[in-house]
Amino acid sequence: MFVWSKLSAAKWSDAWEERFSGSTDATLVISSFPGKQTIRVEAYCATEKRAKSIQKEWGGSVRQLKQQNWAAHASQAPPPVKVREKFVVCTARTNAELAKARKEFPDREIIAVPADMAFGTGHHATTATVLRLLVDLAEDLNKSGKPWRMADLGCGSGILAIAAAKLGASQVWGCDYDPAAVRISKENAERNDTPKVSFTRIDVLKWQPKKTWDIVAANIFHDVLEAAFPQLIQSVAPGGVLMLSGILRTQAKDCLAAGKRAGFVVKKTITKGKWVTALGTVKA
Ligand SMILES: C[S@@+](CC[C@H](N)C(=O)[O-])C[C@H]1O[C@@H](n2cnc3c(N)ncnc32)[C@H](O)[C@@H]1O
Repeated sequence: MFVWSKLSAAKWSDAWEERFSGSTDATLVISSFPGKQTIRVEAYCATEKRAKSIQKEWGGSVRQLKQQNWAAHASQAPPPVKVREKFVVCTARTNAELAKARKEFPDREIIAVPADMAFGTGHHATTATVLRLLVDLAEDLNKSGKPWRMADLGCGSGILAIAAAKLGASQVWGCDYDPAAVRISKENAERNDTPKVSFTRIDVLKWQPKKTWDIVAANIFHDVLEAAFPQLIQSVAPGGVLMLSGILRTQAKDCLAAGKRAGFVVKKTITKGKWVTALGTVKA
């Protein structure tokens, strides 16, 4: 047994959980310390190769553990997530797993997102909420008959961008500042038969949008949203929609006030657990 470990800011706790959810060859343990803003993130792996691959992606250290009974660490793939009547998001990796999911859910489109080292398997409240909103928005846009474009800022696994392409967007682009997320998003786009979706490595905080999008989704954390509001607002096409998520309930008031100052007009907020998602337009 090998253990990868790393100290992290406590605010990333959910992101670590999501990254490892469904991973069958690495079991996550997060330890917090009273009064500290730091957590210890550990992944218990059967092989050194797996532990080292996590270290390669995320830094940290790897150590070997003495022989013990590790049966308690066995984990299972998370159940598929249904989105409205439209999608099932599952962690299928191989063609055989995909075929099995298609057989199990013949009336839904499958989005296959293996639980890799990028956020976004659909199990997190923020992703699930944005996916549902996306399905609703697409329905209205498709009724209008006009082509529509979507941008996924902080794409993680690429799940939102892939969903937009499946929902009929004429052009979809995603970005993330994490090179692993960009690579995994491209792999997932191929896996899901949406190869035209493009992904770029970009730090949203340094981004200067060159064009606009009818739907801009940004499931990033509140501090990034607050700092990036000028770019976010600028990237929304006239009459378009901005969806923000990854906002902790305790931060929502301040975050949305910052958005309002920058020109974000909130039309709807949805709270799920400790997370808030906001949907709105932008001032012309
Ligand atoms: C909460 S995850 C969302 C992933 C996916 N869009 C979803 O909805 O499940 C946030 C993503 O934003 C990315 N991110 C955080 N800060 C960023 C920044 N400044 N620029 C670009 N991406 C960023 C992270 O790497 C991570 O993949």
